[in-house]
Amino acid sequence: MKVMNDSRLVIHQSTPHDKQSSFAEDVRAGLTARPKTLPPKYFYDDLGSQLFEAICLLPEYYSTRAEAEIFHRHAAEIVSQLSAPVGVVELGSGSSVKTRLLIEAILARQPELHYQPMDISASILQHSAEKLLGEYSRLRITGHVGDYTRGLDSIVRRDGESLLALFLGSNIGNYTPEDARSLLKAIRATQRTGDGLLLGADLKKSLDVLIPAYDDALGITAAFNLNLLARINRELGANFDLANFQHRAVFNHEAGRIEMHLVSRSEQTVVIGALDLQIEFQSGETIHTENSYKYDLPQLAALAEETGFQPMKTWLDGERRFSCNFWLAS
Ligand code: AVJ
Repeated sequence: MKVMNDSRLVIHQSTPHDKQSSFAEDVRAGLTARPKTLPPKYFYDDLGSQLFEAICLLPEYYSTRAEAEIFHRHAAEIVSQLSAPVGVVELGSGSSVKTRLLIEAILARQPELHYQPMDISASILQHSAEKLLGEYSRLRITGHVGDYTRGLDSIVRRDGESLLALFLGSNIGNYTPEDARSLLKAIRATQRTGDGLLLGADLKKSLDVLIPAYDDALGITAAFNLNLLARINRELGANFDLANFQHRAVFNHEAGRIEMHLVSRSEQTVVIGALDLQIEFQSGETIHTENSYKYDLPQLAALAEETGFQPMKTWLDGERRFSCNFWLAS
């Protein structure tokens, strides 16, 4: 469905009906599983997307600032990895705040740019696209609301241009290694030899830094996590008592990932009206809501080789907390 169209902006969206039913099915599957789990993509309703933007401003959440620092220092060199003209595709574009540094570097060396952002949040995608178009008159945007898989099918290329895919902000961290490989192969399958992928990946580091990044003093990350239950209450007629669940962030050493959970503070029963479902919780039982995998540089190089890319160059922030990796489709 085309929801918006002027001369420089088109946004495509899968129908609300599809979205709704898969949310219901995913909640049913996740909460009837042992251990209980919910997919992190459902964090991003309108409020959840704003809470994530707030997380990015927290002193503890270093990764957004670290990646922005890399772009401030190296945007020109990053975009020069491909010869002009390039088109840009972005998976999980969000507010596109960091992306604008790359857009500016690209527009400095070619007359026009076609940017194809994809995001799960319609409101964030629309707002950020309109803002970008107001600032850059030589930009054209075709956006896709929804799952990446859907948007990847719709990528277009103008004659003579190469495509740069952006997968920034450690969004890759939400994927298990196996799912990360499939997604990267799916991205590679949309590309031609000589196209590029810029992958922003968070690095393994001290737990003294890592844990507060996912359990901040203000409780914004806790609100972001709990909002998933508020969303189930609102959209699926459930009666979660948010005060009866606690946010928890832990590092799983074997898997190399931060995990976020919602811990039941007591034995309790929750009713989900739209699913005709009752869920029992033991005291201390958790819903596992997110994985955030942390990488090291050899792992990233191996991931490139396994998925049809040649790792060309990696940039780090000054404190070596975060990596930006340019891979060439080989
Ligand atoms: C958007 C997946 C990159 O894993 O750091 C931030 C989401 N969750 N705080 C991350 C998140 C809690 C974030 N990603």
